[in-house]
Amino acid sequence: MTAGINAPGRARIPVRSLRTDRWWLPPLITNLGLATFVIYATVRSFMGEWYWVNDYHYLTPFYSPCISESCVPGSAHFGEWIGELPGWIPMGFLALPFLLGFRLTCYYYRKAYYRSVWQSPTACAVAEPHAKYSGETKFPLILQNVHRYFFYVAAIVAVINTYDAIVAFHSPDGGFGMGLGNVILLVNVIMLWAYTLSCHSCRHIAGGRLKHFSAHPIRYKFWTFVSKLNVRHMQLAWITLGTLMLTDLYVMLVASGAISDLRFV
Ligand code: FES
Repeated sequence: MTAGINAPGRARIPVRSLRTDRWWLPPLITNLGLATFVIYATVRSFMGEWYWVNDYHYLTPFYSPCISESCVPGSAHFGEWIGELPGWIPMGFLALPFLLGFRLTCYYYRKAYYRSVWQSPTACAVAEPHAKYSGETKFPLILQNVHRYFFYVAAIVAVINTYDAIVAFHSPDGGFGMGLGNVILLVNVIMLWAYTLSCHSCRHIAGGRLKHFSAHPIRYKFWTFVSKLNVRHMQLAWITLGTLMLTDLYVMLVASGAISDLRFV
C-alpha cells in the first residue's frame, strides 16, 4: 500500500481508532436524518396527489412550479407549458433536479455525507475504510465545483416559492384569507431564503474578488449580512429539511381532508 492509512511512514495501529468516546454517533444521526428526508421527499414527489388545497391555494414546495396538464386546476401558477406527464415523472420535475444538485453539492452537506455515508473519514482520528484518496480533484467529485450554478437556480426557485406563499393568502370566497397553513408556508420560505443566502457561493458572489470593500459599500453590506447567516449554514441546512417536510405534510393532510386548516381570517 502506498496511500491512505497504510502508506509508508504512518503509524501501525491495529485498531480502527483509539478513541473511546462515541465517535460513531454523529455520523449515525446524520445518516438517519438524511435518509428520513430522502425517503420522505421521494415518496411524496412520486405520489402525484394531495399537493394543492384549492380552497386556500396552498401548494407544497415539492410540486412547485407545477407546469404540466397533469397539475390539478389552480396549482399551475405559471401556466401549463407541457402536456400530461406519465406517473413516473414527478410533477415538480422542473425544479427538483436543481434543488437536489444544490443540496448535494452544498459545502455543508458534502461534509455531512462524506463523513457519514462515504466515511472519508468517519471522524477525526478514525481510520477510513478507503485505501485511496483523491479528494475532489477527479471525476466524479470534481463536479462539485458546479455548486455556484445550482445556487443561481435555487435562488430562482426561492422566488417561485415566495410567490406561492403570497398567493396562498386566499379565502374560499375569493378575498384575503389566512390560516395556519400560511404561517407554515411563510416560515418555510423565510428559512429557505436564509439557507440559500447563507450559501458559501453566495458569500463569494457578494464579496469575493474585491480589493477594497470601501469602494463597494453595497456589496460590503450584503457580504456582511450573508456572512452572519453563513456561520449558521449547517443549522439552516437541517432546519430547511425539517420545514420542507413539515410544510409538505401539512398541505398533504389538509388536501386529503385528514385535518382542517386552522383559519384566523
Ligand atoms: Fe451550502 Fe451553498 S454551501 S448551499
